[in-house]
Amino acid sequence: MAENRVMKVMLINSSIREHGCTDRALREVASVLEKDGFQADIVWLGKGPIADSLQPHEKDIADELLAKAGEYDGFVFGTPVYFGNLNGRLTSFLNRFFYGHANLFKGKIGAAVASCRRTGGITSVDEIYHWMGLNCMIIPTSCYWNEVHGNTPSEVEQDLEGLNTMRQLGAMISYLLKLKKLGEENGIAPEMMPVVRTNFIR
Ligand SMILES: Cc1cc2nc3c(=O)[nH]c(=O)nc-3n(C[C@H](O)[C@H](O)[C@H](O)COP(=O)(O)O)c2cc1C
Repeated sequence: MAENRVMKVMLINSSIREHGCTDRALREVASVLEKDGFQADIVWLGKGPIADSLQPHEKDIADELLAKAGEYDGFVFGTPVYFGNLNGRLTSFLNRFFYGHANLFKGKIGAAVASCRRTGGITSVDEIYHWMGLNCMIIPTSCYWNEVHGNTPSEVEQDLEGLNTMRQLGAMISYLLKLKKLGEENGIAPEMMPVVRTNFIR
């Protein structure tokens, strides 16, 4: 691996609104990563259909981003809160992104952020971490749970604590990337145990 390569983070906006509140939150995370010299690519999932896993489908945004995922050191998944949880688009996307592709994500950084009018941010973020938790990803934290509040980007601008939480998350991702780089330069990486699968009864 080239030692001087620029480390990259993909920030994924699953909202149907390209420049809505979720995007505003992700931009705040990205601003800290860019300040620290990392490449932060905000990617919008668009408005097209996203098939769930196992479903026969035409090529969609999940295939496109999977083809690029190997180049990235970290991922931030952003969702608007819908009925107290992450939106359906991100659920389908995550199922596709992770199903059968663990090797693309092991040892990498994975974070989640949510935007809501009032409540449901914490449940949404917790849910998204389920996909990270069984793929040996490294989960950064922040100074509060990773949520912003608002129905419009200008309302999110007024959520000063939420934006600060996003910046702190960016700083924690930045720190983990620096540690990861030091690890790469010194031959240190997490040991990956062989996969063992039982279905509880055998
Ligand atoms: C179908 C739907 C369900 C929603 N459910 C919630 C909810 O449970 N809690 C909440 O606080 N806001 C809820 N909202 C508001 C959005 O989460 C909020 O406006 C969010 O910031 C929008 O982000 P976006 O601009 O990136 O799409 C809902 C919005 C929609 C369209």
